[in-house]
Amino acid sequence: MRINNHSRELFHSMLKLNNEMSVKSEVMVKVDNLVKSFGNVIAVNGLSFEVKPGEIFGLLGPNGAGKTTTVKILLGLIEEDSGEIEVFGLDPSKEEIKVKNRIGYVSEDPLIYRSMTPRMLFNFISSIRKLDEKETTEKLRYYFESFEAVEYYDKLIATLSRGNKQKMQVIASLLHDPDLLIMDEPLTGLDAKSAKVLKEILELHTERGGSVIFSTHILEVAEEVCDRIAIMDKGKLVAIGTMEEISVMANKAGADLEDIFLKLTNQDESIAHIVQNLRKMFGNNKK
Ligand SMILES: Nc1ncnc2c1ncn2[C@@H]1O[C@H](COP(=O)(O)OP(=O)(O)O)[C@@H](O)[C@H]1O
Ligand SMILES: [Mg+2]
Repeated sequence: MRINNHSRELFHSMLKLNNEMSVKSEVMVKVDNLVKSFGNVIAVNGLSFEVKPGEIFGLLGPNGAGKTTTVKILLGLIEEDSGEIEVFGLDPSKEEIKVKNRIGYVSEDPLIYRSMTPRMLFNFISSIRKLDEKETTEKLRYYFESFEAVEYYDKLIATLSRGNKQKMQVIASLLHDPDLLIMDEPLTGLDAKSAKVLKEILELHTERGGSVIFSTHILEVAEEVCDRIAIMDKGKLVAIGTMEEISVMANKAGADLEDIFLKLTNQDESIAHIVQNLRKMFGNNKK
């Protein structure tokens, strides 16, 4: 489903980005030489990147690459060992509230407010964020209709499917018109239609100068959604740029993107090995 023109206009008029941002900062997020270890696991190992206004920036990498750790450091949920971080030109550890007020976050885990209904959750969010009641009601109606979730408004969150919980997280992240959306594997559980709605919303958000950090382990998703991508593997940045630039970097321009990704993350040989073993096993078990 495409968001129709009327809804598009409505969404545009609803989305009010922070004026301060559009005038002031050239760079939305700046990460320089970020390092974070857990015991002897180096989850993030010297990561640097920048996210500009109006950009959907992808963090792409296999499980365990360090994407969630990076995102959580940006949000101030965990502390880095070393490195420099700026969000909207501010230091998030010093100006936590200022920074958090302008970020919308979708975590990779489903919502924790299991004993609430969406209505209760959104009332709660509106009151802590001091959102305008009329505007918020209008937005909620629009988002619930777009995600075809109206019937779940008064159901307990605990009883919702993974995908419907995910929709609630996404809506919650958007209500305060953040300048920066940080979404960690946001398509998890969403059906094709809702995934399309979310992608449209992200496009509209960036058309207004907003930015998105979009973490995913799925190459096709990154390719479709993101303007620029950082490929991470074992905490390290292995490539950064547009998909086109990355394929040139991998010295395999025109090659299948999946091959490039597997090559860059050194998974190609290990996959060949796994496939070989699987073939052996299946061959041995022939009925
Ligand atoms: N709280 C934690 N305690 C110990 N190890 C962790 C913790 N969080 C992440 N890790 C480890 O850090 C590495 C990166 O994890 P993560 O950032 O979740 O990767 P990704 O999101 O790319 O899958 C993994 O090896 C993971 O096991
Ligand atoms: Mg993760």
